[in-house]
Amino acid sequence: MSNFKVYVTRRIPEPGLKILNDQCDVTSWEGDDAIPKEELLKHMGDIDGLVCMLTDDIDKEVIAKGGSRLKVITTMSVGYDHIDTEECRKRKIVVANTPNVSTDSVAELTLSLLLLTARRLVEGVDSVKNGEWGPWKPMWLCGVELTDRTIGILGLGRIGYGVAKRVKPFGVRRILYHDVHEVSYAKEVDAEFTDFDTMVTESDMVIICCNLTAATRHKFNKETFKKMKKTAILINSGRGGVVQHDDLYEALTSGEIYAAGLDVTEPEPLPHDHPLVGLQNCVILPHMGSNTWDSRNHMAEIAARNIVSVKNGEDPYGLVN
Ligand code: DGY
Repeated sequence: MSNFKVYVTRRIPEPGLKILNDQCDVTSWEGDDAIPKEELLKHMGDIDGLVCMLTDDIDKEVIAKGGSRLKVITTMSVGYDHIDTEECRKRKIVVANTPNVSTDSVAELTLSLLLLTARRLVEGVDSVKNGEWGPWKPMWLCGVELTDRTIGILGLGRIGYGVAKRVKPFGVRRILYHDVHEVSYAKEVDAEFTDFDTMVTESDMVIICCNLTAATRHKFNKETFKKMKKTAILINSGRGGVVQHDDLYEALTSGEIYAAGLDVTEPEPLPHDHPLVGLQNCVILPHMGSNTWDSRNHMAEIAARNIVSVKNGEDPYGLVN
């Protein structure tokens, strides 16, 4: 048995587990729910590699407990805002994620959420289930079309680009994007780089596809909602923390914006009695962006390969720091 010890904080798909078991000495938290922090801390100090999930808060305490033995932390996700990467950098711990393999699943889900929200599909499904479907009415459950609309995307990385590619065939008028810098591939979808204010002011539908960083935290707040069109729809499949949720509630109830579709929230899970949950013009999904077997199998595989690469003295595929 290898003496490279790895701890996995959740049950993960078999393709990843197999790679790890073949090459490392693996222990896992067998629950489907997030591992309690005290339990995780018990294992730190005795492992070379950690496979964590986006729900695990890998803070200074956890990293310090890992001691000098800890060489690599990989998350089975694209987002890594739950890992204190700065602390890892100081301690020369490699941090890795699972880029690329969930691009299509998250982009598909984002488009689905946009359509769900814009066409009021959840209300339609509920009306059938609740026996509210009466005779056809000309002005009942009318939503808005993507055709001829201006779409704004915050973050034209792989996922944002995947969303742009998917909305373009709907006959949208313009695609605007804002990011830390302009990207060359934007021209393939005719996306125009703008400053943040222009994007939120001119877009009919604004889609958040960015990471959570100090610069994007609560970027969508009271001030931003005031700049948006009253008919605007906000979609978030990036990270919940990009949106200030109290301000969003205010904007949705006061008519500052028209509707929102959220696949990510702050906190997660969002309590079922949270005010946003009760709103008809807010569609909330339980962070399902990458929930396909294709993506999850690949994510587990990449996370495992990240660990094995570091074990073999190589840079991991999903190198973050
Ligand atoms: C990720 O990989 O960061 C996604 O949010 C998972 O759905």
